[in-house]
Formats: sequence, structure tokens, C-alpha cells
Amino acid sequence: MALVTFTSPEYRDKTVYAVAGSHTQTVLKLALENKIPINFECEDGECGTCVVKVSSIDNKLQRMGGPLTEKEKSVLKQLGKITQAELEQMIVDDLPSEWRLACQMIVRDEDIRVEY
Ligand code: FES
Repeated sequence: MALVTFTSPEYRDKTVYAVAGSHTQTVLKLALENKIPINFECEDGECGTCVVKVSSIDNKLQRMGGPLTEKEKSVLKQLGKITQAELEQMIVDDLPSEWRLACQMIVRDEDIRVEY
């Protein structure tokens, strides 16, 4: 079961730990269930409002972060969070970007920190 730590520089004292109930749940859904004030609008990977920084805090050797959806790639590029070169390197390394859209990222069985 994945432990997700939500943290924000604006709410330093309000780090929230949440456990993902299933592996079909998005980071945004988990945040809303736990009353984490992540900004969002479209909930469909279009607007980029829900951009978050995700890092693995798991001791597993194998990273589990899922691949970016096509919408995420496009929006994150528009936001200037990732470059085409970084996108290509991610495919080579088989590792996701640290920048994700909370409404698109599915929580895997990996402990992560989500900065919003
Ligand atoms: Fe619009 Fe996630 S809420 S991209």
C-alpha cells in the first residue's frame, strides 16, 4: 500500500500522509479525499492547474512511477516544466518526470512525496 506525503511550502506545518486505497486512484482524487488544497480546474489533463512535483521516498530499488500520459507531456511542455530532450531521456531511462499533473497521475505501489 502506497504512502503518499503531501507537502507545500505555503503550509509547512500541514504535511498530510495519505494511503492510496487502490491503484486506479489519481493523486488529485487522493488529495481531495484528504482535504489537501491542491489547485485544479479541468480534472482532465488540459489546463495544467494541478501541476505537482513528485519524488519517490520508497526504499525499493525499482522505481514504479507510471509513464506520463500524452496530455501530461503536452501540458508540462507548455508550462515549461519539461523539455523535449528531457521527455526523450525519460523514455530511455524508463522513469517519469518529477513534474506531474495530479489529475492524471495514478498512484502506484510506491511511497511518494507530492509537493503542491
Ligand atoms: Fe486541469 Fe489537472 S486539473 S490539468
